[in-house]
Order: sequence, then C-alpha cells, then structure tokens
Amino acid sequence: MNRKDVLDLDDFTAEEIALVLDTADAMKEVLSRPIKKVPPLRGKTVVILFYESSTRTRVSFELAAKNLSADVVNITASTSSVAKGESLVDTIRTLQALGADMIVIRHSQSGAPYLVAQHLDGSVINAGDGWHAHPTQALLDMYTIRERLGRIAGLSVVIVGDVLHSRVARSNIWGLTKMGAKVTLCGPPTLLPVVSKNGCRGDLPEVTVEHDIDKALSGADVVMGLRIQKERQEGGLLPSLREYVQLYQLTRDRIARAKPGALVMHPGPMNEGIEIAPDVAYSTQSVIENQVSNGVAIRMALLYLLAGHRSKQI
Ligand code: CP
Repeated sequence: MNRKDVLDLDDFTAEEIALVLDTADAMKEVLSRPIKKVPPLRGKTVVILFYESSTRTRVSFELAAKNLSADVVNITASTSSVAKGESLVDTIRTLQALGADMIVIRHSQSGAPYLVAQHLDGSVINAGDGWHAHPTQALLDMYTIRERLGRIAGLSVVIVGDVLHSRVARSNIWGLTKMGAKVTLCGPPTLLPVVSKNGCRGDLPEVTVEHDIDKALSGADVVMGLRIQKERQEGGLLPSLREYVQLYQLTRDRIARAKPGALVMHPGPMNEGIEIAPDVAYSTQSVIENQVSNGVAIRMALLYLLAGHRSKQI
C-alpha cells in the first residue's frame, strides 16, 4: 500500500482494498494465537484522538495497536487542551512534537482528518468524520462479507435507512462498488442522497435507489441496516419514528425476501426496535458481532501496512 494516510475509500483501488483484506486474514491468524502480541510496531507511537464518542472503533484501534506492540496514547477532546480552546492544527503540532508516528482521529467535522494529514509527517487514519467517511468500518464490513460469502464481486448489497447522514454508508458505497458489488440504497426520500436517473451523483459511484423495502430486499445477498438518529425527526426529515418502523424496520418477514442465508449487518450502535427488530439483530443470519470482532484484524492490517510492512508472515 503506497500511501501515507487512510482518509476514505474513494481514492483506493480494488487491489489496495484486496491487500488490506488479505493482510487482515494474516492478522486473524495472529489473533487466534494464545499470545496475540507481535513486534512490527515496536518503538512506534500511535495516538488515538477522539473528538466524538465511540466504543467499537476506539477500543478496536487500541487493541490493534497494542497487539502490534505500539505505544498507544488515548486522547479525548474533553480532557485535553482542546477544552481550553486549542485549535486542531495546534493540537496536531503538539502531538508531532511529542513524537506521534500515527494519529487515528474521529471528529464531528467532515474533512478534519484531511487537515490533520496536511500537518502531520506520519500517517493519519480517519476513524469517522462528520457525515463524510468511515473507511475502516467499510473495510471491516467488506472483510466480514468476504469471510462469510467467499467474495464481494457480483453480490447484491442493500443499505437501508439514513444513508444521507451516514459516513458508514458513503465509505461502503465506494468500497463495495470498487470491489464489484451491486449496491442498492433504500429508505425514505428525505434520508437518501439525490441521485440522477443513471444512479450517479457527482460525489458517489453508480448505485440503485429503491424506496420500497420489499422490492429492495428481494434477492439481496447482504442487508445492511443503519442507525436512525433521533434528531432527524426533530429536524423534520421523518414524520415519526413509528412510521419509519412500519415502513423500513428490518423485520423477520422482510429479511425473508432476501436470498436464503443472506447476511444481516449493522455498524452499530443499534437502536433495537427502531431500524432493526431484536430477533433479526440476534438471528443466525446476523453477523453484527463478527463485524465488531473483525474490526481488530482490519485495524491491525492498516497500521501494519501504513508502517511499511508487507510480509504475510507476521
Ligand atoms: N461503528 C462505529 O463506528 O461504532 P462506534 O461509534 O462505537 O465506534
């Protein structure tokens, strides 16, 4: 992987995505060992800088960096000098002066990781920025699909819910289409991006839009639910959560329209009973917990590749 940073998947090639997924296979083998610690990042300092709350992404990056023997520093904005008014650029300059080799950043402002990448000599990984991108989530989603179904190319993947405000959906649209999947977006018109008749929008690759969930799920290989953010109703984008549940909740009956053995996915955190029924979230078709576990292997793979390593023998 010939890049300094991982900011989104729009500038990844299919070959680069495949390299990350293959390297994650090697990391899964490391994670199956009794002692999971290996030396590739010994002497490197990884700073995990989160300006927004997180459980899965923050913990899995910390585990990934520690498994690779990096020194890990966790910073939350509320307890750093950010709370005293320090700017993002000054924070990055300070962390560089303190010896940060890599920074993993989550920020509520779309584009913040790009600014960080301009000011840090080392690598920057986007752990989610505003509504824009969440590339490591999309990579672990693709890894989980490939692990379960053996391929990504040719699969029908339906993303249901608040696509418009979802950084996970956006990165998945880029990654999945580059890997040859057919992506359908489903949800109320107010929560979907506007696409032209051929499915293209200036900043998105070609996708299909289907507002009728029964049609969208028919024959799907993968169904990916997204969190419905309650503030969307307050913002007037949803008449009521009850109506959303009636029209778009992932229920057992709706999932039955997908192919037998179709995967049910969700990036988390879930609003059980809103976008997904609990019996679907915990069904045998659900791979939601596998997604969380695979997050460690994918993030190990990215840290390993960005540090310049290539060998699959770790
Ligand atoms: N999927 C995801 O980004 O979850 P967290 O907000 O818990 O990191």
